Amino acid sequence: LHARLALDPAATVGAVNPRLFGSFVEHLGRSVYDGIYEPAHPSADENGFRRDVIELVRELGVTTIRYPGGNFVSGFRWEDSVGPKESRPRRVDLAWHSTETNEVGIHEFSQWLENIGSELMLAVNLGTRGTLEALDLLEYANLPSGSALADQRAANGRSAPFDVRMWCLGNEMDGPWQLGHRSADDYGKLAAQTARAMRSFDPSVELVVCGSSSASMPTFGEWERTVLSHTYDVVDYISCHAYYELKNGDVGSFLASGVNMDHFIESVVATADHVKAVRGSDKTMAISFDEWNVWYNERFETLDKITGVDNWPVAPRLLEDVYTVADAVVFGSLLISLLKHADRVTSASLAQLVNVIAPIMTEPGGPAWRQTTFFPFAAAASNARGTALRITVDTDHYETDVYGAVPVVDAVATIDEASNVALYLVNRSQDESVEVTAEIGRLNGTYSLIAQSLHDDDIFAANTLANPERVAPRDNSTARIDGEHFSVTLPPVSWTEVLFS
Ligand code: AHR
Repeated sequence: LHARLALDPAATVGAVNPRLFGSFVEHLGRSVYDGIYEPAHPSADENGFRRDVIELVRELGVTTIRYPGGNFVSGFRWEDSVGPKESRPRRVDLAWHSTETNEVGIHEFSQWLENIGSELMLAVNLGTRGTLEALDLLEYANLPSGSALADQRAANGRSAPFDVRMWCLGNEMDGPWQLGHRSADDYGKLAAQTARAMRSFDPSVELVVCGSSSASMPTFGEWERTVLSHTYDVVDYISCHAYYELKNGDVGSFLASGVNMDHFIESVVATADHVKAVRGSDKTMAISFDEWNVWYNERFETLDKITGVDNWPVAPRLLEDVYTVADAVVFGSLLISLLKHADRVTSASLAQLVNVIAPIMTEPGGPAWRQTTFFPFAAAASNARGTALRITVDTDHYETDVYGAVPVVDAVATIDEASNVALYLVNRSQDESVEVTAEIGRLNGTYSLIAQSLHDDDIFAANTLANPERVAPRDNSTARIDGEHFSVTLPPVSWTEVLFS
């Protein structure tokens, strides 16, 4: 097959916000305990955090990290997680049917983030709690000094405020599984009231109101319209969440997941812009895509769910998906989709980071390793900078059961101030390579190329404890520039990064 790209530096989408490369750590399964935190591990630092995991998280290049949930936050009492560790209560976590020991809380997590060099994004509990508790947490976290809560923070070892900029107003409040789930109208009113109160403490905090927990929710669209009608003037972002999985062996549809993500983002943009027009507002709503990934949710629902009134394990193995090459190609195409919408999606969180639907896995007392999905994320987080460019792709289409006819090739590029270009491509064909060509005369530079593809003859190959380095991106030696003519060959089911520098 053959595809032609129009690569034009004038076709700008918008600035790439570094927050697009954020992630998410929830108190869920082995994400925190036996994940980032394992005091008995040989590599643990003086605070009990695994140094080998810290190294991998730094290599991954995550920026802002959302915490502490997720569904967990809707039962979370933040006061449990601060103060002397020995007096913190153990609590049952109804979201994941587990025990939360509160050994790691806001102070410890924030210290870990400072070590990584990432920003903290906090979620408040609007499921089982309300405006007052959200205000207390904001004051505890951000007031420099002079109140009981600020003094309590200082007494707990942190005199400087955490100065948290981004706050989520609850989590997935449209989902019937959410503790405190409510209607769009009820949630919209509560979120607006909480946002106003938080802004009266600090007008510059950045607030994220909950959008739908997926585009397939029965209330999708109407939920966004109603919630934004209440909150438009007092929030900065509306959230999107999306997870994709291979269902019924339908690889063709699975590989086209990015088409669905494009449509999802464009529908939320249209809905937000409708509310903007109705209100005569001059403010444009941004999107925080604060949960996205491949997740074998069906497996969780049918096999892994914990039950029993006498069964509340600490850090059980939950949502520990092992990612294949095909998963990583889909994952890479989701990154392309986010970058294609960089003008409106200005923050995103890969859900999640360690062990739980994660790019990084660990074994208690043993090694930590990179899943297949680690590679597209690390590459884009390190190289997709500056401005996103819209790439017009002239490509074949193929039929899918779920999304109809979809393009075989999808692409996006970024260009920085020094005219370095990063080009990202996905080939969704299961059996054919695609020769991609582009005229690059308009790029106005003399470039050398580095190209890497993630591809394997076995699309189900994965990195595991037994074989942690089975899959990695390989140099793509077909990338070349001949005068103003660029070409690269994309293997079947592959994700490719080409750096022009
Ligand atoms: O990331 C796992 C879960 O997915 C989160 O807790 C929830 O917000 C979503 O449904």
